[in-house]
Order: sequence, then C-alpha cells, then structure tokens
Amino acid sequence: MGGGGATCWGASGFVVWGCWSAQSLTRCGGLTPLLSPAALAPAWHHAVIGYDSGTFGDIWPLGHVTLNVGGLLLSKIALAAALLHDVCYPETWITLVDLHLPNYVSVQLLKDTFRRIRNLSIRNLSLSDEATVSFLLLLDGIPLRSLSIVGLTLTGEGRWIRANRTDLSSLDKLFVSDVTIIDILKFAMTSELMFLLQYQKKLSIINAKMFLLSCYLTQMMVDTEYLDVSDNLLTDLTLPYMMCDSGETLQNLRVLNISGNHLKSFSTMSRLVTKLTGLTHLDVSRTSYSSMPPSCTWPSTMRYLNISRAKLATITPCLPKSLEVLDLSYNDLKEFVLTLPILRELHLSGNKFLRLPAGRPYPNLQTLTIQSNTLNVFGLSDLQSYRRLENMEAGHNKFVCSCEFVTFLHPQLVGSGDVKITDGKQSYVCDSPLYLQGEA
Ligand SMILES: *[C@@H]1O[C@H](CO)[C@@H](O)[C@H](O)[C@H]1NC(C)=O
Ligand SMILES: *[C@@H]1O[C@H](CO)[C@@H](O)[C@H](O)[C@H]1NC(C)=O
Ligand SMILES: *[C@@H]1O[C@H](CO)[C@@H](O)[C@H](O)[C@H]1NC(C)=O
Ligand SMILES: *[C@@H]1O[C@H](CO)[C@@H](O)[C@H](O)[C@H]1NC(C)=O
Ligand SMILES: *[C@@H]1O[C@H](CO)[C@@H](O)[C@H](O)[C@H]1NC(C)=O
Repeated sequence: MGGGGATCWGASGFVVWGCWSAQSLTRCGGLTPLLSPAALAPAWHHAVIGYDSGTFGDIWPLGHVTLNVGGLLLSKIALAAALLHDVCYPETWITLVDLHLPNYVSVQLLKDTFRRIRNLSIRNLSLSDEATVSFLLLLDGIPLRSLSIVGLTLTGEGRWIRANRTDLSSLDKLFVSDVTIIDILKFAMTSELMFLLQYQKKLSIINAKMFLLSCYLTQMMVDTEYLDVSDNLLTDLTLPYMMCDSGETLQNLRVLNISGNHLKSFSTMSRLVTKLTGLTHLDVSRTSYSSMPPSCTWPSTMRYLNISRAKLATITPCLPKSLEVLDLSYNDLKEFVLTLPILRELHLSGNKFLRLPAGRPYPNLQTLTIQSNTLNVFGLSDLQSYRRLENMEAGHNKFVCSCEFVTFLHPQLVGSGDVKITDGKQSYVCDSPLYLQGEA
C-alpha cells in the first residue's frame, strides 16, 4: 500500500487513512465535511489503517464504496468489516480490493456485511478451500443479487462439498474472471457446482482455464439468459458435452459468448446452438474457424454474430439470413457476396478486400466498416448501391488518388456527402501515384 498518508477528521469520530493515490488524497480531503454525504459519493479508495466504529453510521446513502483491504492481517479485515457495517445499505455497491481469506475466521468477519448488501465486487480475492466453503455458506439464502470477482486465486484443491446446500437463489448475476488455481494438478473439484451456477440469469466465467462445463450443470441452468465463457480452454470435443449434444439445455439462453476458445469447427457450433430457440447473440470471435460448410441451421432468432479475429478465407450461405449485425473483421476474406436482407451493421476491417462489396444484397445496411484492407478506389456508384448506408469507415487502405476519387471522397469526409465517413480524414492516405504517397 505505498503512497502518501493523510489524516482526516470526521464530525462524529476520528479516522486515519492511508491514501494510496493522488486521487484518493483529494477524495480523502473531501471527507472533512462529513455531514454532507454528497461529497463522498460516488466512489473513494482507501487502505484502511484505523477506524472507529460508528464514524460513518450517520452518512447515508453512499452510492459506491471501494475499500482496499490489502494484506493478510485479520485485524485489517475486522476493520474493513466494521467500516462496512456502518456504510452498507442495500443500495450501496461495495468493492473490496486485495482480500486474502485464508481460513474460516477471516470469512466470518464479513458475515454481517454480506447480509445487508445486494451488490458486491471483489478485485483480487484469494481463497483456501476452508475459506471457500465458509464464504459460500455466508452467501446462503442472503439477498445478494450481483457478485463480481475479478482476479480469483484458489489455493486449495476444490473440496467444497460441505457447501453444497448453499441457497443462492437471489443471485441473478455472477461474474468471475481471471481465475488462478495454484495447484491445478491436485485441484479435483470434487463437489458438483450445481448449487453455485444454477440460478443466475447472467453468468460469466472468463479466463478461468475452464475446459469443460458439464451437461449435467447446463441442464440445471434453466434461468440463464446470458452466458459468457470467453477466454477458456473449450474445444470442439468438450463443447458438445456442455451443450448436451442433441439433448435439451439452456432453453432460455439469449446471449452466448464463447470468444477466445480453441474452436475449429464452425459446423459443430451451428449444429449445437440450433436448439437454443431464443438465442439472439452469438460471439465466436478470436477462434480458429477457417472454413464454413455450404449450408447450416441456426435459431431463427439470431440477430448478432461475431466471428472477428478468426481465420476465415471465404464465407458461404451458412451464415444466418436473420442477422442484423455481422462482424467478420480481421479474417482473410477477399470478397463478400451473400444476401442479408435485414443486416444493419457489417464489419469487414482487417481483411483483404480489393473492392467494396456491392450494396444491393444489403438493402438495410446502415453501417459499414472496411478499414485496413487493400481497397484502391471506390466511387459514388459503389456507395449508391447501398440504399440506406449512413456511416462508413474505410481508412487505412491502399488508395490510388485520381482526381476523380479525391473530388468524390472529399465531400463525404467533411460530411456534406450522402454517406458520412466517420473515421476521420487523416486515415485516408494516398498509396499512389508516387508523388502523392502519404498525403491525406
Ligand atoms: C452492481 O454492480 C455492477 C458491477 O458489477 C454495476 O455495474 C451496477 O451498476 C451495480 N448496480 C447497482 C444497483 O448498484
Ligand atoms: C492481491 O492482494 C494481495 C494481498 O492480499 C497482494 O499481496 C497482491 O499483490 C495483490 N495482487 C495484485 C495483482 O494486485
Ligand atoms: C451434498 O453432498 C452430500 C455428500 O456427498 C450428499 O449426500 C447430498 O445429497 C448433497 N446435497 C445436495 C443438495 O447436493
Ligand atoms: C464477449 O466477450 C468478449 C471478451 O470478453 C467481449 O469483448 C465481447 O464484447 C463479448 N461479447 C458479447 C456479445 O457480450
Ligand atoms: C466482436 O468481437 C471483438 C473481439 O471480441 C470485439 O472487439 C468487437 O467489438 C465485437 N464486435 C461487435 C460488433 O460487437
């Protein structure tokens, strides 16, 4: 907890704070008029050094409290708990930073706080098995609605079975990202996680080195509308198991984010999600898809598909006709010919297009991004073929600056043309003729 220190005098008590950033020093200064709660909201950051119980009891309500617990000391957790006890109301969004819970005792200190709040975020949490079980038991039946943990270190072996009766039915939203398991070989996860993941409407397990989410579990997730499992180790072999192959699962899912996993077979994906009859968003960006079959089936509700940063060299009529937003940026595409009648947004930046795709197959397209390709030139007739195009970004291409092209482009760039070019004049640089190279 480096940084300076500051002493703040409160109206109803005495507080010493170690402030760890210039920003918190000012905020800390702002603590002086303790009688005016507005001065405290929305967020302040502290390392707790000392606190007299009751000091903040009269301030209400606080919008967002960030508390840096830091270190291993139980006394610090106790202090944090006392402070939280005074400031926590159901409306308060609490963020705890650097919380290390080695055992049962350390967790119990937070019991009172957890019972009162609805919205808890923890950044950098470390838990042993014993602490995980007591942490979960603390959450049993409480009205907490949103729990977010960014940076979770599990020091144990995943023996959490004693917590398997925990009732988390109020928890609508669980967000966990950046999970480190210290002893991955011993980590057994002997208990089923059903009780933990069963109720959320919105569930995110991101960058957790997860290679499998079992069908047994996903079948219980009947309320889940949003599932984000990006940046894990899922493959074409484990995915069918998670999606219960041809059986039913995740029947209320609307958004599935599986970005940044080791996936290669686009047809497997299409086959598995077809049964998700309410699915509107599918994010399969940053995968290893390199081809797609000639035709596919999809839920008729699909509106958004993101396959950016994959390895596609061609596209086929496999793509769903119902799309409104399609992101194919950063692939190896040279052309795009496919009728998508209700498409509103098309992203094609970072490919190898030599010319603008013809607009006729996209009568509803409003936004087109096609930066960083190899376009030489485009003209008014190209733009006019898009009936409803409003915004375009086409900078960082290899433009050949003929008089005609420059005369045409200029009004579009300054906003007096039919289509707004929104990525700025400085991105339009001539590649040739030689004497104009590098000119904007
Ligand atoms: C709850 O926490 C999330 C972040 O996890 C935040 O975006 C949201 O605004 C909070 N809601 C309330 C009601 O404070
Ligand atoms: C996490 O918190 C511990 C104290 O509990 C601290 O020693 C460590 O540096 C923190 N890690 C990060 C990445 O902030
Ligand atoms: C919890 O685990 C025990 C021991 O394995 C088991 O008998 C019990 O049925 C489990 N309870 C629930 C709700 O899963
Ligand atoms: C999916 O996750 C990635 C990375 O975490 C994020 O950038 C993207 O916005 C998410 N997509 C959706 C549809 O939520
Ligand atoms: C598609 O996914 C990429 C990477 O996850 C993200 O940066 C981008 O914003 C997404 N595109 C859209 C249109 O949401």
